[in-house]
Amino acid sequence: MQHEEHEAIARWERRWLNAAGLLLVLFVILVAYTLATEGGHIAQRSARTTPEALTSLELFENPGVEVTSFRAGEPLQVTATVIAQAWNFVPAELVIPAGAEVTFYLTSRDVLHAFQVENTTINAELIPGEIATLHYTFDEPGVYRTTCNEYCGFGHHNMMGTIRVLRPGDPGLQSVTAPAAGAAAAGGADGEGVYAANCASCHQSTGQGVPGAFPPLVTHAAELYAAGRDYLPKLLLYGLEGEISVEGSAYNGQMPAWGSLSDEELAATLNYVLSAWGNDARLPPDFTPYTPEEIAGHRAETLSAGGVHTLRGTLPLTDQNTD
Ligand code: CUA
Repeated sequence: MQHEEHEAIARWERRWLNAAGLLLVLFVILVAYTLATEGGHIAQRSARTTPEALTSLELFENPGVEVTSFRAGEPLQVTATVIAQAWNFVPAELVIPAGAEVTFYLTSRDVLHAFQVENTTINAELIPGEIATLHYTFDEPGVYRTTCNEYCGFGHHNMMGTIRVLRPGDPGLQSVTAPAAGAAAAGGADGEGVYAANCASCHQSTGQGVPGAFPPLVTHAAELYAAGRDYLPKLLLYGLEGEISVEGSAYNGQMPAWGSLSDEELAATLNYVLSAWGNDARLPPDFTPYTPEEIAGHRAETLSAGGVHTLRGTLPLTDQNTD
């Protein structure tokens, strides 16, 4: 190769390097500009936790909106706690007074999720084990959608919630200052509430599921119970991965493991599912409700989601696994 050609190549390499360097500087300036003038800021990590410890953490015991301080002439201070999990936000809806200074505490129960609120600067990455904290004031009443913008698996596109911002004095705000309804159920876990918060986004509140995507629990849950009492607790604790067939439809989704819920919650949820939608009439006559101790007993086994699929293959079901 000629000397001039070498020179030309070297010149172009320098130009491209300079252009790349300039782009980096431009991006840093843009980020600095948004942080300084558009009210953007980086969500802070306020504390660490583990998904297992989440339910026992006071902050996340009753996720939702709480008024922490109210002084005349000062903006209302409100905290909003949200747990993201496959594939919904708990709670799905937050009701917030306009003008209140909101402190969000956000975390994930299982995998990487995000919490983005449309038309605001709220956009936090939710890392399991980390609690993200950010502050925001909604000046405009209205409905703001929240979405997860980190691909978190099969139901990612369903992962949505809402924030309803109401004018101070709106009667809809009474729920904010009233104690959380779920906590009122003295002592025992509320199976229907746990189901509504965790299961209904896929299996639906009717238990009908979504054909081809999420299997129905109507009839099917009772059928699984009849095939073997130990299967349902393992399914909840360890999840399920692999193709199955239910009432003639094939399903190849992924049931997340729910081991981070407490033994009481899991037992209550199973008992709810087995008594709802006429399932109780389909149970064997010797059925007795699941107890938290029974759930606890299955925790020692540590199956994989694939292992649960293999186990399902051994059950006497009319519709069997299809792989
Ligand atoms: Cu959670 Cu995507």
